[in-house]
Amino acid sequence: MDSFIVAENLGHVYRGGTVALDDVNLNIGTGLFGLLGSNGAGKSTFMRIICTLLVPTQGRVTVGGLDVVTDRREVRKLFGYLPQEFGAWRLQRVEEVLDTLALLSGLEDTSTRKQRIASVLAAVGLEKVADRKVKQLSGGMLRRLGVAQALVHEPRVLIMDEPTVGLDPEERLRFRQLMTDLSRDRVILLSTHIVADLGSGCSDLALIDHGQLQFRGAPSELVALARNKVCEVTVTEIAEADVSTRMEVVARTVRNGTVTLRGVIKDGVVPGARIVEDITLEEAYLAFMTGRGRRVEVLEIADN
Ligand SMILES: Nc1ncnc2c1ncn2[C@@H]1O[C@H](COP(=O)(O)OP(=O)(O)O)[C@@H](O)[C@H]1O
Ligand SMILES: [Mg+2]
Repeated sequence: MDSFIVAENLGHVYRGGTVALDDVNLNIGTGLFGLLGSNGAGKSTFMRIICTLLVPTQGRVTVGGLDVVTDRREVRKLFGYLPQEFGAWRLQRVEEVLDTLALLSGLEDTSTRKQRIASVLAAVGLEKVADRKVKQLSGGMLRRLGVAQALVHEPRVLIMDEPTVGLDPEERLRFRQLMTDLSRDRVILLSTHIVADLGSGCSDLALIDHGQLQFRGAPSELVALARNKVCEVTVTEIAEADVSTRMEVVARTVRNGTVTLRGVIKDGVVPGARIVEDITLEEAYLAFMTGRGRRVEVLEIADN
C-alpha cells in the first residue's frame, strides 16, 4: 500500500490541558479512508493538523514526503478543501463561483478553466444547475458544489471533516457514491461519527477514541472482530426491558405483539438470542466500542 499521509507519534494538547491526540501512528494511502470516532474523539484536531491549520504539540506528519509544519506552503498545494459555507456567494451563479475560485487557485488560462469547470461539474452531477444562483441550491447540491471547488485544481488529497452533517438520506446516498467514484485516483480522508456514511467505497478506516487510535484496518476486519457479538432476540413487550439491558439495541421490530430486538451483546448472555451473521459496519463499530466499555450514540433505532 502506498502511504501518502504518514503520522508519527502525533500528539496534541490544547492550551488549558485537553489532550486531543495521544501518540497516534497512522499511514493513509490512495482510496477512501474513514476516520471514525464519537464527538470529542479528536477527529477535527487530526484533520486540522494534516491541513496545516494547526501545529501539533508532539510528533510529526508528512504528506507526500513533505512535512506539514516545515513545508506548509508546498503541502497546501496538494489539498482540496471542503468549505462549510457559501454564504458570501449566494447571489452568484454556480459556474461563476467555480471560475473565480479556480482563478484564485492559480488557473489563469481561461480555456483550461472552462474545461476543468465543465469536468468537475459533471463529476459531482451539477452540470444542469451551472446557471443557477447559489441561493437556489439544496443542501446536498451546496455540499457537492463544495466538492467541485475543492477538485478544480486537481488536488492529490481531499480532506473532508464531517461532510454529511445536515444532509437528508437521499443526499447522503448520493454523496457516498460521489466519494467512492472520486477515491479511485486520489486520497480522500473523510471523518464522521456516522458509520453508515462511509459506505462500501471505504477501503480503510481508523477508529479514534479519546485521542487514541483504537483500530486501523479494512471495514471487513472490523466486522470480523464483531463475530458472535451481534444477535437478534424475539421477546414479549414485558420481557423487553430486561433483555434490552443486556444488549445495545440497534433495531426494534414489532410484529403481532412480539418484539424483535437486534443489537450488540454486552458482557454476559442474552437468553434466547440468535447470533447474527450479516453484521453491518455500524454494528461492528458499536460492538468494538461496547467491548471497551464505551458508550456510542446509536444513530437511529428503526421501530416498525
Ligand atoms: N480550540 C480548542 N481548545 C481547547 N480544546 C479543544 C479545542 N478544540 C477541540 N478541543 C477539545 O479537544 C478534544 C478533541 O476535539 P475534536 O478534535 O474537535 O474532536 P472531534 O472532531 O472528534 O469531535 C475535545 O475534548 C475538545 O473539547
Ligand atoms: Mg469534529
